[in-house]
Amino acid sequence: MTWLITGGAGYIGAHVARAMAGAGERVVVLDDLSTGVPGRLPADVPLVPGTLSDGALLERTFAEHAVTGVVHLAARKQVAESVAQPTRYYRENVGGLATLLDAVAAAGIGRFLFSSSAAVYGNPDVDLITEDTPCAPVNPYGETKLAGEWLVRAAGQAHGIATTCLRYFNVAGAAAPELADTGVFNIVPMVFDRLTRDEAPRIFGDDYPTPDGTCVRDYIHVADLAEAHLAAARRLSAPDASGDLTVNIGRGEGVSVRELVTLIGEVTGDRRPAVVEGRRPGDAPRAVASAALAARELGWTARRGVREMVESAWRGWRLHHGGEPAAPTQTR
Ligand SMILES: NC(=O)c1ccc[n+]([C@@H]2O[C@H](COP(=O)([O-])OP(=O)(O)OC[C@H]3O[C@@H](n4cnc5c(N)ncnc54)[C@H](O)[C@@H]3O)[C@@H](O)[C@H]2O)c1
Repeated sequence: MTWLITGGAGYIGAHVARAMAGAGERVVVLDDLSTGVPGRLPADVPLVPGTLSDGALLERTFAEHAVTGVVHLAARKQVAESVAQPTRYYRENVGGLATLLDAVAAAGIGRFLFSSSAAVYGNPDVDLITEDTPCAPVNPYGETKLAGEWLVRAAGQAHGIATTCLRYFNVAGAAAPELADTGVFNIVPMVFDRLTRDEAPRIFGDDYPTPDGTCVRDYIHVADLAEAHLAAARRLSAPDASGDLTVNIGRGEGVSVRELVTLIGEVTGDRRPAVVEGRRPGDAPRAVASAALAARELGWTARRGVREMVESAWRGWRLHHGGEPAAPTQTR
């Protein structure tokens, strides 16, 4: 098979491209480089610069590279931006996907893997989120991921495409410093950013009904996530692959914000106490995946722990942001 990876120059996509190419899969990347970085890609992975919404480019790319499967990661992913610009999120994440699926169907491509998110669940009040937990996204970003899943399944049924939707939980870490996430949208880079500015980390709410009062999340190392894509792609490669699989990608273990901030203090050597601020609207007390279906269907289980995520992310942060941890202060 030859796999087209959309968004392959992004943080997660570059890890997926590297893992799949490293395992002997033929891959080609399409990316508009709006947030992607070409230098993240291995030299032997071709990059087609361009956007999802260019149907003619997709058609040419499928033909020129004899593409037989698609791993679709390209999307906009910032929750706050999606609240401010919902039409843009629907246009790019859902409209772009519709254009891509039209081109996939027209080219007779029969395998499709979609990058979904735990954001489809919203804030369910359950101990472990299974794939049967009702979906109720609480922001336009999550809505575009849920609508994307519906669209993928419907197009799969209409055109006989075998489809898989992977619902990632909280992604962190880097397989190599140069592949690290350069955005400051998730908790690990947000804490690094505060420390680098010589400011205390912030915790939003410590009065949740959780063991230490702070929110609990399920963190997944991006290298494990990339291996999950490889496992899912291999499952889709089977000659008799058909239907849809929708599966959580997490570790099945909760880590509280306070535990994570403490761990970041140990890894960076900057142990200044966090400041506690008010709750943020929309934050669920607990969001932890059941990882059972992924183990059963993909034969995949996460191998890397939270310390490895923080250590590898810190090496990446220092490469991209330079220098040493913030200087010691009296508050430490
Ligand atoms: N990072 C996370 O924690 C997380 C969690 C759940 C799901 N996801 C999903 O994973 C996917 C990848 O996320 P990421 O963190 O690597 O983000 P990213 O911004 O680093 O990567 C997205 C890539 O897609 C490209 N892109 C965006 N719109 C495009 C378009 N219209 N045409 C072509 N290329 C386009 C960007 O240039 C970039 O390289 C997204 O679908 C995101 O919603 C991410």
